[in-house]
Order: sequence, then structure tokens, then C-alpha cells
Amino acid sequence: MTDKPTYFPLPVHRPALIDFLSTRRSNLAKVMEGPGPDPQTRDKILEIGARVPDHRKLTPWRFVVFEGQARSDFGQYIASAFMAENPKAPADRAIFEGGRLTRAPLVIAVISSPVECPRGTPRWEQELSSAAVCFNLCLAAQAHGFGAQWLTEWYAYDDSVNAALGAKDGDRVAGYIYIGVPRARALPRARPSVQSVTEFWEQ
Ligand SMILES: Cc1cc2nc3c(=O)[nH]c(=O)nc-3n(C[C@H](O)[C@H](O)[C@H](O)COP(=O)(O)O)c2cc1C
Repeated sequence: MTDKPTYFPLPVHRPALIDFLSTRRSNLAKVMEGPGPDPQTRDKILEIGARVPDHRKLTPWRFVVFEGQARSDFGQYIASAFMAENPKAPADRAIFEGGRLTRAPLVIAVISSPVECPRGTPRWEQELSSAAVCFNLCLAAQAHGFGAQWLTEWYAYDDSVNAALGAKDGDRVAGYIYIGVPRARALPRARPSVQSVTEFWEQ
């Protein structure tokens, strides 16, 4: 009798992965530097990012990738939006705002783009799927040995910046994922005790 072909890997105990997930920390974008992932690694990170739970396969999200010059080109829209809203801000603040994406060699914007689903997948679930994309991008980048941080800051909520990003009606920015080489070790961060956020349901 021949073995049946295995199409999908069965879950196996992966201690290295458990260790990674148990100790994972975000890295600060402000202490990242180049080089970023090469194109093949970047594409792999994107591919893993897109491999998330997605009820009814609606793909209700997409990526906008920033590398090289594109980071400061886009920064001009961030700076203009900031100065329009804060006209009394000092001029050097515009330089700071315009440089936000240059903190890391690779920045991936994740746009949540929910669709009307005739079979009824709620918008909420589609937006949750975008969050899974953001976190999977962080995990994928860190698994490749890069630092990663999920940020929204103020510009993820700015209409003019979102227009420059290509966001359409109903789209929202789930996050900007900053990826690079961390220059500093991430410090420990307090975590909630699992007991304090867990109850066991009983009648
Ligand atoms: C949707 C979302 C937006 C975030 N935006 C910011 C932000 O704008 N600025 C910031 O300092 N941290 C932000 N964070 C938090 C960091 O991504 C990260 O969770 C935090 O630094 C803790 O790191 P940890 O992953 O090690 O817990 C955001 C997190 C989420 C989920």
C-alpha cells in the first residue's frame, strides 16, 4: 500500500518557534537602520503577511511598499498635512514629519479595504483580518532576522495622507510596518498576567 500524499504539513511541536513567540518584542522604528531585506526576502515577508485567516477569502487588505526615495517622497505629504493642521509649528518640525518613513529601510503600509460580502462576512471580521496581516508581517520580518514595529502614529488617520497613499472610500490604514536592522536591543515590556484577562466560563 502506498502512503497517501501529504498536501499540508500536520502540526508538529516546534520548540524554537515557541521560544520565538514567547520572547518576541517589537523593535523601535526610531532605532532602526539599513540594510533592509533584499527584494527576495521582502517579497517573502509580504507573502507571509498575506497568509492570514480571512473569512471567505475576500482579501480585504492590500500593501503599499516604501523603500529608498519613495519614503521621503511620501514624507512630503506627511509634512504638508502636519503643517496644514499645525501652521504655527516650527519649520524643523516639517523636516521631522517628512522623515518619519526614513527611520527604517522598508516600510509597508497595510490598507484595510473591506468589501460588501454577499454571503455576509461582517466588516469587523475583515478589519480583524488586516490586523492579522500587520502582525504576520512583523513576525515574518523578525523570523528573517530583522526588527519590526507596527505603528499608526497620527498620519494613518489623516485623510490627505491617506489619499496620497491611494486609500479609497471605506479604506482605513491598519498600520505602517517598519522593518530594518535594530540598533538597540528592545527592553522588556510588562505583560498582563494571563490570569487577569482570563476566566473559565461556568454555568
Ligand atoms: C494598531 C496598532 C497601532 C500602533 N501604533 C503605535 C504608534 O503609533 N506608536 C507606538 O509607539 N506604538 C504603536 N503601537 C504599539 C507597537 O506596535 C508595539 O505593540 C509596542 O511597541 C509594544 O511592543 P510589543 O510588540 O513588544 O508588545 C501600535 C500597536 C498597534 C496594534
